[in-house]
Amino acid sequence: MKAAEIREKFLKFFESKGHTIVRSSSLVPSNDPTLLFTNSGMVQFKDVFLSTETRPYSRAVTSQPSLRAGGKHNDLENVGYTTRHHTFFEMLGNFSFGDYFKRDAIHYAWELLTRVYKLLPERLTVTVYYEDDEAYHIWSHEIGLPLDRIIRIGDNKGSRYASDNFWQMADTGPCGPCSEIFYDHGPQLYGGPPGSTDESGDRFIEIWNLVFTQFNRDVKGNLEPLIQQCVDTGMGLERLAAALQHVHSNYEIDLFQQLIAAAARATGISDLQHNSLKVIADHIRACSFMIVDGVVPGNDGRDYVLRRIVRRAIRHGYKLGCKRPFFYKLVEDLIHEMGNAYPELKTARRRITDVLHQEEERFSKTIEQGMLILEAMLSELEVRGVKIFDGELAFKLHDTYGFPLDLTADVCRERGINIDEVVFSESMKRQREKARTTSKFQVAQELDYRGVKTIFHGYDQHICNDASVVALYINDTVASLLQAGHKGIVVLDRTPFYAEAGGQVGDQGALINSTTRFTVSDTFTVRANVVGHQGILEKGELKVGDVISACIDVERRVRTTRNHSATHLMHKALREVLGLHVQQKGSLVSPEKTRFDFLHNKPLSDAEIHSIEVLVNAEVLANTPSIAQVMSFDNAVNLGATALFGEKYVDEVRVIDLGFSRELCGGTHVQRTGDIGLFKIVFEGSVAANIRRIEAITGDSAVHYVHSLEAILSGAARVLKVQPIELTPRVMQIWDQLRVLKKELVQIQLKLATSSRNELLSKTVDVSGVHVLAAEVESTNIKMLREIVDRLKDTLSHSVIVLATVSSGKISLIASVTTSVSKNIHASELVNFVARQVDGKGGGGAYIAQAGGTNMSKLPEALLSVKEWVQAQL
Ligand code: ALA
Repeated sequence: MKAAEIREKFLKFFESKGHTIVRSSSLVPSNDPTLLFTNSGMVQFKDVFLSTETRPYSRAVTSQPSLRAGGKHNDLENVGYTTRHHTFFEMLGNFSFGDYFKRDAIHYAWELLTRVYKLLPERLTVTVYYEDDEAYHIWSHEIGLPLDRIIRIGDNKGSRYASDNFWQMADTGPCGPCSEIFYDHGPQLYGGPPGSTDESGDRFIEIWNLVFTQFNRDVKGNLEPLIQQCVDTGMGLERLAAALQHVHSNYEIDLFQQLIAAAARATGISDLQHNSLKVIADHIRACSFMIVDGVVPGNDGRDYVLRRIVRRAIRHGYKLGCKRPFFYKLVEDLIHEMGNAYPELKTARRRITDVLHQEEERFSKTIEQGMLILEAMLSELEVRGVKIFDGELAFKLHDTYGFPLDLTADVCRERGINIDEVVFSESMKRQREKARTTSKFQVAQELDYRGVKTIFHGYDQHICNDASVVALYINDTVASLLQAGHKGIVVLDRTPFYAEAGGQVGDQGALINSTTRFTVSDTFTVRANVVGHQGILEKGELKVGDVISACIDVERRVRTTRNHSATHLMHKALREVLGLHVQQKGSLVSPEKTRFDFLHNKPLSDAEIHSIEVLVNAEVLANTPSIAQVMSFDNAVNLGATALFGEKYVDEVRVIDLGFSRELCGGTHVQRTGDIGLFKIVFEGSVAANIRRIEAITGDSAVHYVHSLEAILSGAARVLKVQPIELTPRVMQIWDQLRVLKKELVQIQLKLATSSRNELLSKTVDVSGVHVLAAEVESTNIKMLREIVDRLKDTLSHSVIVLATVSSGKISLIASVTTSVSKNIHASELVNFVARQVDGKGGGGAYIAQAGGTNMSKLPEALLSVKEWVQAQL
């Protein structure tokens, strides 16, 4: 049975049992900042289990792309070393939300496996959580499984509930005891049943996990019973396929065989058994699905996980001797295998291919050198019999050659060598510390602060008259007093100053009372909700406990705010015009402009930029009030607020409704969209692979910009003596005239050259039977000189010609030698002989050469010398 049929049968079976077939969700969980990737089918239902979300059904079935390459469930390093681990796999699952529980879950599973898929019952063994008598009873009394094939598993991972048979999605969230079903691949394979010492062998393979979800685990580790008892199951499609296709490795199933053959073709090897092909086949699936869901290779979070996997695949290609980009070529094969079940692969075909190709190009610049260093080091260790790889060197490979740690570890593991990860981490830490000296955010973390949190009044006030000084710092060290001239940081109990966050720059302004003035040049976060005012004390003294007025630079704030609000409208407009794949990848909102980086794979056309401006300005004109509300994260997401991937959100979030946009944002915003004034895009370009940047301006800056464009236009119109509106036709007219004139000029120059031909010919002298002509031609250019030389040669056979012309203070020289004379005289030598005398030099071939020169006064003499030089050569 092929993988596609297995998937289909699963969905249909549960549909016949009253389950709704639900679309799989994104690999990037949209509702869960605690999770790096969707690691199982239940992720999209997390809130349904917790009863904070309801759905129109109480039974669901899915086939869910899942990724286990980071976070709690991580199989990356096992890929290529076992027959059954993947970074990416498809999880088939049935779910009950307060509907059926253990009994039906177990009966359904048994029926599907033994009657629909027709697995032999004697090949199946199950486990239950050691305290779960109910599940044990169902398996023994109702299903009739022999007792020696029902194994109780305890807390085998060191603490209460830390067990293979107690499943939890992450450190917090829904969880519960589970019952796992194992398939016995037969005694010819090494391995023992679950719970035995050799359980990790390849004989007994877990195929299906039935989780009886009953609890919610909180951050402290407490288990809170759920309002309703639920079921969450997960069966690895690839493992089931191996059992049904009578093969002992996932990599031997139909789907993988095709990908492995494709990887062999792309890397140009014929040994289909090579382990690296498995790794590559696994990784093309993971990478492509991640890219579909908006991840791009980068240096942190999900983006870094993608980079690690791509680079690991490239390294395995390299190991197979393939040093050119190959990985991106597998996208088509993957689409062939999985495109029907997952049409989004087809839609994103171009983007996946481009992103992978670019990452391959980028890494190919350093992999060679990195591998050389790594290989040399490994050989040395081998000679010395050492089994530990230097962590410092692993760090260097990471830092200089872009080798993620797990890539180096993968190479080392092939040689039975471990990396000294402690030293690696220390080196990483040192590097971060070094970078810290330049980053005020890092500095902030190092300030010793024990005071209260700062109350922020800046959403609706520009001044706080009664702020007290809570802490002072000079050179990042606690101080009790600032004196005039001191630079330092001031923390207040309340403030209207916005601390740099979410792309919006920190406020500037002043802290003042009758005797003191501290000028604030920047504001930043010292701790969560603690605001640091950085600047210089201009006059007076400032002590802890002093009460001052904190006043922001209102003008600057208003400009920044306009740009921030415009950014929200622009983000929404970008998604409307370009598509929902547009995601924010970075932003900077300052008084001058907004700079917005986002995911998109090609330059924006003029028409697209125009549409975005039109959409945003229409919202500005609509002049709707902006609304800020604080609510739970879940509520915000349910209301459709745009949250940023990779951002950590706390439970309470601030949602800004602004015109047609709704975003989670802590920044400051205009009161009505009309306050933005005018929105104008002034730049569009690329910043990295698949990331575009837009810069835009608002308010009076946009008006000034339009004015200056207008001034340029009127200036040009004045010069051309037309109205600005007539500028384009006038310029086109002039352009046409210019073309005609240029043509006429060439004709005239040619005529002139022809008429002067006779005069030139008369200057020809005979040197031992060779016609030698060296003369100056009236102001023309090098192109024309060539033309003249060609025409002279028609008349002067057996000749040596040197022509010079002077224009704009520069001498142009050309030398031409007919074939008959070229045995003795070389045009390039000749032209250089003349050029040297006029302080110039040149080059060319044996028959024709040209040169430049600057010393006009020497030109007549230089031309005269030609005759003699020719004589000497003959
Ligand atoms: N969520 C369960 C698992 O991933 C079914 O094993």
